[in-house]
Formats: sequence, structure tokens, C-alpha cells
Amino acid sequence: MTTYLEFIQQNEERDGVRFSWNSAGSYENVLVAALFIPLKERPDLPPIQYEPVLCSRMMCHFSSIEYVVLCSPQMPLIFLYVVDTCIEDEDLQALRESMQMSLSLLPPTALVGFISFGRMVQVHELGCEGISESYVFRGTKDLSAKQLQEMLALSKVPVTQTTHGVAVSIAVRLLECTFPNTGAQIMMFIGGPATQGPGMVVGDELKTPIRSWHGFEKDNASMVMGDSFNISLFKQTFQRVFTKDIHRLFKMCFGGTLEIKTSREIKFSGAIRPCVSLSSKGPCMSEKEIGTGGTCQWKT
Ligand SMILES: *[C@@H]1O[C@H](CO)[C@@H](O)[C@H](O)[C@H]1NC(C)=O
Ligand SMILES: *[C@@H]1O[C@H](CO)[C@@H](O)[C@H](O)[C@H]1NC(C)=O
Repeated sequence: MTTYLEFIQQNEERDGVRFSWNSAGSYENVLVAALFIPLKERPDLPPIQYEPVLCSRMMCHFSSIEYVVLCSPQMPLIFLYVVDTCIEDEDLQALRESMQMSLSLLPPTALVGFISFGRMVQVHELGCEGISESYVFRGTKDLSAKQLQEMLALSKVPVTQTTHGVAVSIAVRLLECTFPNTGAQIMMFIGGPATQGPGMVVGDELKTPIRSWHGFEKDNASMVMGDSFNISLFKQTFQRVFTKDIHRLFKMCFGGTLEIKTSREIKFSGAIRPCVSLSSKGPCMSEKEIGTGGTCQWKT
């Protein structure tokens, strides 16, 4: 005999979905939230090999369902490595080995880019013979995507996003210019906090304290720090990024679209996570916006 709580826990464990109303009392006009784990493995679930159908009543023995859409367009896998070179030799050597290992795990069709940075940010041109050319940018000055397009002589496409830190900013803008509206992975390896430019969290002088959660609380983003690149924790964690599922596909996803459909009684306010609104209006949107709201579809 399972209790209600056990029943809920079993469902969360199986589906990777958690609803806060399962632990709330009454539901009228209350804010509820759902946590959803995308790509959660469900070995017990038979993959459905046809286009998704909208059903008003779910099959009761499936609390969630997973479709394998066979004719989806094939996008290239894009990996942009962004590497801090202001780190100890030992760490740099270890990081180099981990990166080389990761390259050997990528499919031959994957597109790879490389940006290194210290006081300067260097965008490297990769060829079969190694690095043929590098473009150097000042680490204190943020560039607009348009400026970057002109400097690297890239083809012109409309660009929108902004971000913190010159190296990561250049990485994002490079992707915006070259592969707009395409999913990509920026792999950022940093040896410490940013000490100059727009992503700065601490100065060179010891008297300046590093930004802490007090800043984060005021919407002034902070960061999480680890030990070294030459420890098994980093090496194994990094290697796990590239693990594959039983179909020999990466357990990571690129350019996903999240869409929410609710029953009439429920309105939703928004999504909290790194996602971009697709500005798709729906009947179930609440006037109260939380996170990225005003849409029922997001790109992630
Ligand atoms: C990384 O650490 C191991 C074990 O402490 C050590 O043997 C090895 O030389 C280190 N690697 C580098 C590149 O220094
Ligand atoms: C955010 O943090 C930076 C660096 O510590 C600081 O210079 C800036 O004043 C902070 N901004 C706000 C709004 O607290």
C-alpha cells in the first residue's frame, strides 16, 4: 500500500516532472510551479515512432510520452571552446588533454571553434594544419555583433543578444553571426574570475572584494568556482558531457523548443531558465509575467 506522498515521489522519479501543487493545499489563484528535466531517460517507455498527436485524454498507463521524430532537419553540432590562458601550466596542460579527449568524442561532422583569452581575446582560425590565423581583441572593450561581423568579415545577419564578459560575448556574437537561430554549445574554461571588462567580478588589487551572493541577490550575477583542471572530478565530469545513449546519440540537446499547453483552468506566467521567448501567443498566458513570459513557446 503506497501513501499519496510515495505515489507522487514515484511519479517524479519516473517522469522527471515536479509540480509544486502536489505539496500545496488549495489551488485557486495560487502560484504553482513545475520543474521539468528534459531528456530524462525512460528505459521503461517505448519510444513512439510517429509525429506527435495532441490528445485530450492521456493513455492512463503512460504519465508521459516520448516521440522520436525521424524526419527532423539535421543541424550541425557546433562546439565553441572558450579557454582562459591565465592559469597554471599544470592546469593548462591537463585542460589541453581533456579538450583533446573531447575532440576525439565528437562526430567528424561536428563544427568546432576556438577562442582563447587572457588580457586579450583571440579568435583562432582552425585549419587541418592547426591554427592558421588569429584575430586579437582587447579584453576591456565589449563589441557589438555588428562590429565583430565587420572585423571578421562575416556575412551580415540580424543580431540581438548581449551578454557579460568580453570573451563569452565574442563567442555568443560569433555564433549569432555565423549560425543564427541554431543551437550550439559554448564550452567555457576559466581559471578565475574576470578582473577586467564588462564581466568583471573582482579587481586586481586585493583590497577589492570579490562579488558575492549579495550581488547576485541584487541581480548582479556571480559565479561558482572549483579547484583545478588536473583533478579527476573535472576530467570525469567533462567526459560525462559527451556520454551517449543507447542509440549512440549525445545525451545533450541543441536548439530545443519548449511549448506549454494547459487546460482552461490554468494560466501560466513564464519560464525560468536560460531560454529565449519565441513570442508565440496562446490563450492560456497569464497577465502576470514571471521569468520569460508573454509566450507559450521558448527556444532553449
Ligand atoms: C596532474 O596530477 C597528477 C597527479 O597529481 C600528476 O601526476 C601529473 O603530473 C599532473 N599533470 C600535470 C600536467 O602536471
Ligand atoms: C555589480 O558588481 C560590480 C562589480 O563588483 C559593481 O562594480 C557594480 O556596482 C555592481 N552593480 C550593482 C547594481 O550592484
